[in-house]
Amino acid sequence: MELRVKRAPRIDIEITVPGDKSISHRAVIIAALSNGVCTLHGFLPSEDCMHTVNAMRALGIKIEQPEPATLIVHGKRRLLTPPKKEINCGNSGTTMRLLAGLLAGQTFESRLVANAGLSRRPMERVIAPLSEMGASIVVEGPEQTPPLRVRGGSLRGIHYRTPVASAQLKGALMLAGLFAKGKTTIDEPLPTRNHMELMFNYFLVRTAAEGDSSVSVFGDQVPESRDFSIPGDISSAAFWLVAAAAQRRGHLLIRDVGLNDTRTALLGVLLRMGAQVREAIEDVDQLEPRGVVEVTGFPLRGTVIQGKEVPQLIDELPILAVAGALANGKTIIRHAQELRVKETDRIAAIAHNLRTMGAEVAEMNDGLEIHGPASLHGARVPSFGDHRIAMAFAVAGLFADGETVIQDAECIRESYPGFEIVLEQFTNQKMMQISTPVIGSLTPGPVEEA
Ligand code: S3P
Repeated sequence: MELRVKRAPRIDIEITVPGDKSISHRAVIIAALSNGVCTLHGFLPSEDCMHTVNAMRALGIKIEQPEPATLIVHGKRRLLTPPKKEINCGNSGTTMRLLAGLLAGQTFESRLVANAGLSRRPMERVIAPLSEMGASIVVEGPEQTPPLRVRGGSLRGIHYRTPVASAQLKGALMLAGLFAKGKTTIDEPLPTRNHMELMFNYFLVRTAAEGDSSVSVFGDQVPESRDFSIPGDISSAAFWLVAAAAQRRGHLLIRDVGLNDTRTALLGVLLRMGAQVREAIEDVDQLEPRGVVEVTGFPLRGTVIQGKEVPQLIDELPILAVAGALANGKTIIRHAQELRVKETDRIAAIAHNLRTMGAEVAEMNDGLEIHGPASLHGARVPSFGDHRIAMAFAVAGLFADGETVIQDAECIRESYPGFEIVLEQFTNQKMMQISTPVIGSLTPGPVEEA
C-alpha cells in the first residue's frame, strides 16, 4: 500500500488516539495469568497486539473480543497449556521478548517464530538472563536471532543488571520472576517505561522498587483478576503533536491519552523547541495516569536529545527528527544506538528519507545531527517496513511542497490502525473533531481457543 500526502492547511484539531500498545500487550498477558475474568477496555487491536492475543490463545487462554477495542480474558490462575504448534510473533518484538520471559517459567517447550524483519533482531539480551535463571533456550537464527525454542520451569530468582535500557527486557524478566523461586531483581542502566510495574501493582502482585531503575518481583504469586481501561497511546499521539507544534499557530488537543511520566519526555522536548504545551492529568484511578495534551505551534528551534531522556522517548525519535528538520538550527540526537535494532535501522532510515526530502543530515553511530530549517520537497520514500518511519514521513509530507508518497505503508497497522484516516483529515480539514475509528486489524495467525 502507498500512502499519499500533501501539505496541510492550518491545523486546528481535536483528536483521540487508539489504546497504548505497550500497555495492551502487558494487560493481555497479566489478565491471562490472573485468577478470573478480566475485561480490558481501550485495547489496541493492532497487528502487533493481536499477535500477543493469539499467542495467549495458543497457550490455552480463552479471549473474547466482542468489539475491536474490548477483550474479555478468562484468566486461568497461571495455568498455561502447551501450544499445539509454533507461536507466530509476526513483527512484534514486544510479543517475542515478553513471551520468552513468560515461557521460560513453563515446564513445556514452545517455539517462537517471527517474520523476516523480527528474525533479524537481537534476542541475546533476553536469552542470557533467562538462561541464568534456569531456562533452556535454543536459538535457531544465525546471530542470536529468532526462531527461539524455549523450555523452562524450575526458575530461580536472580539479581540482574541489564546491559541495555529496554522495557521489553525488564518486562520479560519480571514475567519470568513471577514463576521463579524467590526474588528476581532487575537493575537498569537508565529508567525505562514502567507499565509492567504499574500493571503488577494493579493486579495486586507484590513488587519492590528502589529508585526509578531497580525493581524486584517475588515469585509464586497469582494476579488478582480486575477490569482495566487502557489510555490512548502517547507514541501514536506524538505524530499529530509534532505536526501541530511545527506549524506556526497550529493547534491540537488530544483527549484521553496516557500521561505516564516514563513516556512523556516528548512533551518536554517540544516545549524546549519552542512549542506551547499544556498537559493535564485527569484520571489516575487505574494507576496509569491519563488526560489531555494541548499543543500550539511556534517556529521551532533545534535541540539536543541525549542521555536519560532517550529511553523515555525512544519510539518518538523518528518524528522528533522530522521536527528537527523543520526547526531553526541544529538538532542533535545521541546515545540512541538502540534505534539501529528497531523494526529497521531507524538511524539509517531517518537519514535516508530526510535527505531524499531535501534536509541536511549527518549520521552518527548512536544518533543524528540535523541542520534545519529544511524546505522539504515531496518525494517517494520507503517505509523500510517500519511503522514509525512510515508515519513520521507521512507527517513530514504535511510540510513538504508537492506530493509525498510513503511506500509499503501497510506496516502502520502494526501499531496504529486508522492512522491514514486521521492523516486525511489533516490535509482536508472538513471535520474538527476526530476520533480515530477503532479498526481491528485482520487477526493474524491461527485462533485457538481453550
Ligand atoms: C516497548 C519498549 C521499547 C519500545 C517498543 C515497546 C515495550 O522497546 O521501543 O516499541 O512495550 O516494552 P525496547 O524495550 O527494546 O527499548
